[in-house]
Amino acid sequence: MSSTSQPVTVSEGNPCPFLRALVAQGKVPDDKVPLGEIARVIVDVASKGDGHPKVPGVAIQGVALIANGLSPRQVWRNAMGGVRLNELRSGPLNKHGSGSGILDENANIDAAQLARLDEFASDKLDTDGNAERGLNLAEITRMMDANFERAAGHRRAIDRKLMDQEWPVLLKIIGKQGKAEHYLSLKDVAHLFVERRFPARMMEP
Ligand code: HEM
Repeated sequence: MSSTSQPVTVSEGNPCPFLRALVAQGKVPDDKVPLGEIARVIVDVASKGDGHPKVPGVAIQGVALIANGLSPRQVWRNAMGGVRLNELRSGPLNKHGSGSGILDENANIDAAQLARLDEFASDKLDTDGNAERGLNLAEITRMMDANFERAAGHRRAIDRKLMDQEWPVLLKIIGKQGKAEHYLSLKDVAHLFVERRFPARMMEP
């Protein structure tokens, strides 16, 4: 698929904005992906980020191994047949609404939740001196704490730990090194969730 064509359809059973972009950009299929393959693709995409971030392929394989269920049968199925990206909502990583809420349960964008990110953001300067809104790690942490807080009554203790493997890792991979700090550009976040695309600077050959 060329980078200018419309992204391919992504299953609503996939709630991860990062994986949805990988599918939409034709880097992995929408359904079954061998564990080694998903890890290889993520490590490769990450290496195109600012500062060439390294993410641990073995840990990604471990996450993919249990992503569709924790029973021995389910783990064996993923080990042999790959992770089913279109069935992640029924797996143990789904936080059932204690995340950002930007993608609803049908994978539609909730514009108010996307706009809410700005409550945690501040003005940043990119390397060229252009101003934009963005989130540094402290601001991302405040956002994750607030997400966990508002989910009181329908959250699991593990949900807050899972968040640490989502937004901070997104910062590491698509974050920008600005004049003063490393930050997640809100424009890039919207682009990822809505257009299912990575920042153009990461797609250059
Ligand atoms: C290193 C690459 C990855 C990054 C940067 C990433 C990032 C994210 C982010 C930012 C969210 C959104 C959380 C929210 O809306 O609050 C998310 C959700 C999710 N991710 Fe990923 N992810 C990655 C890899 C994976 C992998 C390998 C899997 C499983 C195979 C996975 C499964 C999920 C699931 C199930 C959710 C939904 C959690 C929820 O209910 O809020 N992700 N991820």
